[in-house]
Amino acid sequence: MAEDLTIVTGSKVEIYQSLIPQIKGLLDGEPDFIANLANVAAALKEQFGWLWVGFYLVKPDSKNSAESELVLGPFQGPVACTRIKKGRGVCGAVWQNAETLIVPDVEKFPGHIACSSLSRSEIVIPLIKNGGVIGVLDVDSNELDQFNEIDKKYLEEIIEAIPL
Ligand code: SME
Repeated sequence: MAEDLTIVTGSKVEIYQSLIPQIKGLLDGEPDFIANLANVAAALKEQFGWLWVGFYLVKPDSKNSAESELVLGPFQGPVACTRIKKGRGVCGAVWQNAETLIVPDVEKFPGHIACSSLSRSEIVIPLIKNGGVIGVLDVDSNELDQFNEIDKKYLEEIIEAIPL
């Protein structure tokens, strides 16, 4: 089945309002978590052209299975860091605090992990299941101050649409 995304121009709100029903259509009836994360990352990257869009998932630490760490999941963009500890960088902070973080200037975020030297601003949204964080959506832009409360609202709506 062809799955072509309709790309629109306009305000951020208009773009999200066009994109979200299409993403919900892609997710509809598909229970596979990884397939859904892959399509969400691809749809966001295709519509917005951001530098990097992808997921990190909470998994057992490769060196100590009693601990967990974030491991790179489906993404679109340049190659990225594969593992992030709790509390480290923007992603690790969102895992720890279970709340979305908007970083207008990554150089001003203490401990920011620079997977790409081109990244200038970032938003990270937690994926929460049964009250616990099971992963994060990370979006990076190569321009400063690219994310605001509109992105937070609609990206959180997209995350909530993914069957966990
Ligand atoms: N900048 C992130 C790391 C992941 S990459 O940007 C893809 C962070 O500080 O957690």
